[in-house]
Amino acid sequence: MSRIVVVSNRVALPQKSGAPAGGLAVAVNAALKDRGGIWFGWSGRIAPDPSDTPQATKHAGVTYAVVDLTNEDYQEYYNGFANRVLWPVLHYRVDLSEFYRSDLSGYIRVNRMFADHLEKIIRPDDILWIHDYHMMPLAKYLRERGHNNRIGFFLHIPMPPADIIQALPQHADTVGALAHYDLVGFQTEGDRENFARYLETRGGQTTPDGNGCDIGGRRVRLGTFPVGIETGAFARRARHASRTRFVKAFDESLSGRKLIIGVDRLDYSKGIPNRLDAYDQFLRTQPDWHDRVTFVQITPKSRTDVPEYQDMDRSVSHRAGQINGAYSDVSWTPLRYVNRTYSRSALAGFYRRADVALVTPLRDGMNLVAKEFVAAQDPADPGVLLLSQFAGAASELGNGALIVNPHDTEGVAVTLRRALEMPLAERRERHRRMMRVLEEHDINRWAEDYLAALEPDPQPERRDIALPRAAMRSVVRLPVGWGSSALPRGA
Ligand code: G6P
Repeated sequence: MSRIVVVSNRVALPQKSGAPAGGLAVAVNAALKDRGGIWFGWSGRIAPDPSDTPQATKHAGVTYAVVDLTNEDYQEYYNGFANRVLWPVLHYRVDLSEFYRSDLSGYIRVNRMFADHLEKIIRPDDILWIHDYHMMPLAKYLRERGHNNRIGFFLHIPMPPADIIQALPQHADTVGALAHYDLVGFQTEGDRENFARYLETRGGQTTPDGNGCDIGGRRVRLGTFPVGIETGAFARRARHASRTRFVKAFDESLSGRKLIIGVDRLDYSKGIPNRLDAYDQFLRTQPDWHDRVTFVQITPKSRTDVPEYQDMDRSVSHRAGQINGAYSDVSWTPLRYVNRTYSRSALAGFYRRADVALVTPLRDGMNLVAKEFVAAQDPADPGVLLLSQFAGAASELGNGALIVNPHDTEGVAVTLRRALEMPLAERRERHRRMMRVLEEHDINRWAEDYLAALEPDPQPERRDIALPRAAMRSVVRLPVGWGSSALPRGA
């Protein structure tokens, strides 16, 4: 069996403290361990003169190989092009993108450098699985160096329509370079279709089955693989966490009030200001709910060197202060805005205690908070998920969540009341439906499906004709009416 080489900007190194790893790390490690493999990427450190050889550690059959970046690399590749250009544009925020040619050069330089390192590591029959927008042109640079390995890419964030991609200067060198992979995976059908249409604008011919595109003399296959969570393990963790002293103390601090929870990195894609506006509207129009509800918004700071994130930090803190100033009483604070990071176990316990989760991004590839909130609930007395129609998760959880448009402040406020007052039988039924999806499509299934689709086909002459069965399943197995066509992404 071929080895797997996973490449991502951040590498989830094995935790010395024994702290539980996130779901993606669990799935990737499981895939690597089964077949032997390597996880390669940035160490997260900046060094004036990084070594030419990756620093490697081996743990449970997996080799972790990481490299440092120079400060210039970090500024141009990570802060600059990846997070000030690709991130906003792919989240439909061309208005927030700040393009500099020097940043694009840095992005290309670092990707070439990753290709140089990988060249020393990979064997001809290794399968490479590259993750996310930091690494879009990597396959191109490996192909230029003569590597014909199976190379797959998975985009964790949205893929906007062609018109938006075309606003990205020199998009052919970044988004267009995805055509050098064998398989490009997306979170939703809408993302996959957007990319297929973009390739057509570049002269690509979509294959008759719609699952691939012939472009530049080769075929790239396109699939939809909605990322999942460790459903069973997270549910167990939440049950256990709810009995810890820490979560019990949190519960007591609420004095029996209903709990609304939001958990997001401080990022403009998450729609936190809109959410606070909706909560303000709810408090203004529903005075009977005063002193009976607490909204806890947990928001660890993120990408703090990027100016757009600094601006957001200031404006969200200001807005949170305004709400508390307007509605607080000496014995009631309606909003707790918290910039700390909590362990996954603590979050699981908070989710289980919560009556409502507000997951209202303006645009999100998937949003795993939505899925973890559902998995953490007590099935006998579950909370309600309010979910943005613009989160990838809405394609799968639209069968049980209350779907909202985050731009419709009054609509979110009214739906919040409905969620808080929803009868038990309806809550149970909605939760049951969502859990069924999460149990069937967990994170291990996601990794298995993706890798099965990327494997060399046992019948080589048919290799370029259709996606392997597993990938097809991941496209068609959602029950009718749950696909993105049922939820207009742009509406
Ligand atoms: C998103 C991206 C990931 C990224 C994460 C945290 O989920 O899809 O690739 O690692 O945000 O962002 P950061 O910039 O801290 O790595």
